[in-house]
Amino acid sequence: MTTRTMPVWSPAELHRHLDEGSRFSILDVRNQDEFDAWKIEGKGPIETLNIPYFDLLDLEEEDEEIAAAVARAVPNRLGDRLPRSGPILVVCAKGDTSTHVAEGLRRLDYQALNLEGGMAAWGDHYEMRAVEETGRLTILQISRPARGCLSYLLASGSEAMVVDPARHIETYTRIANERGWRITTVFDTHLQADHLSGGVALARALGVDYWLHPYDSIHPDDLLPATFSFRYLEDEKTFTLGEVKVRALHLPGHTLGMINPLIDDHYLLTSDTLFIDSVGRPDLGGRAKTWAPLLYRSLQRLLTLPDHTVVLPAHFSHMHEADDQGCYRASIGTLRNHNEGLRMLSQGLAAFSAYILSNLPEHPPSYDDIRRVNTGLIEVDEAKASELELGRNQCALSHGKAGRRLAA
Ligand SMILES: [Fe+2]
Repeated sequence: MTTRTMPVWSPAELHRHLDEGSRFSILDVRNQDEFDAWKIEGKGPIETLNIPYFDLLDLEEEDEEIAAAVARAVPNRLGDRLPRSGPILVVCAKGDTSTHVAEGLRRLDYQALNLEGGMAAWGDHYEMRAVEETGRLTILQISRPARGCLSYLLASGSEAMVVDPARHIETYTRIANERGWRITTVFDTHLQADHLSGGVALARALGVDYWLHPYDSIHPDDLLPATFSFRYLEDEKTFTLGEVKVRALHLPGHTLGMINPLIDDHYLLTSDTLFIDSVGRPDLGGRAKTWAPLLYRSLQRLLTLPDHTVVLPAHFSHMHEADDQGCYRASIGTLRNHNEGLRMLSQGLAAFSAYILSNLPEHPPSYDDIRRVNTGLIEVDEAKASELELGRNQCALSHGKAGRRLAA
């Protein structure tokens, strides 16, 4: 319950402050393991303190008001660790307990406020940026900033197409309705491992075809086929969307059935093949050594596209990868020189593979079940869906001497 007078930031307001680089600090009152797994990150460092909620309570009686117990505990337990100037955003899992902590802090004259809905709401928050918006073609990049996931809504004339929709499918139908677009095609670039796809549900809701490469309709561990029907998305399959053409390029490596759509010969939705700062990981199917050469060849094919081709990835790792308009995009010409994974191509297959294999991040256990959901092998309710999707994606290679994760 949110106290009536308690100032809050909605997830959208939090995103705006992160985007603008506002100065504020965070008191995260979740347990340490939850905090370690996933925290709020911005373009630069944010002063963040993780003190579990129960460590901030000094209850004198069982039914004592929580804010009063917090106000009593904080001076003893935190001393001067909280900044006296500037906003302190108090964060918990769902935004309930944090409001009591924020209230306790306000009684001590801290500028505390609550994150409305907590990390759950932050994880489900979407932002939209226009990559291209002309009468002929509109490309909207739809992000889940907390997770680093990017999906796309493309439109030409009144026809629209959705690529890699997240599970909150009303995000896409609402935008299409507002703009008078009719979504005629839905597809996933590949079998997603890090998040639950909304592709099948969206296509069903709209009564349109759902497209996927057949290789990615089989769960890589269970070797069981998808339980839903879909149209085969194959190399060089071309869609006509209003006045523009969308051409599917089969670029295996991250998965065997990875498709990157080339839109109007100018924009390449690189999915988890190529990111702004990194390249995709080829190990999630359990065959990194075999799939790394596929990634090598796919990236080589990708680099045969003209330098002005704009790369639009399916993930990011850090907000600072966005450009001044908040879009995650870069030209192939730029990435050719600045993306470490692409630069490794010039050293040949053996060196590239060695580089890939020595920079693989951990394989989150939840990814196996996420792929079971995405192939229709299991169904989950909302609570389980949120649990599976907890945290940032880990779809990219991590690299750098200090193990810095560069993209997702
Ligand atoms: Fe992926």
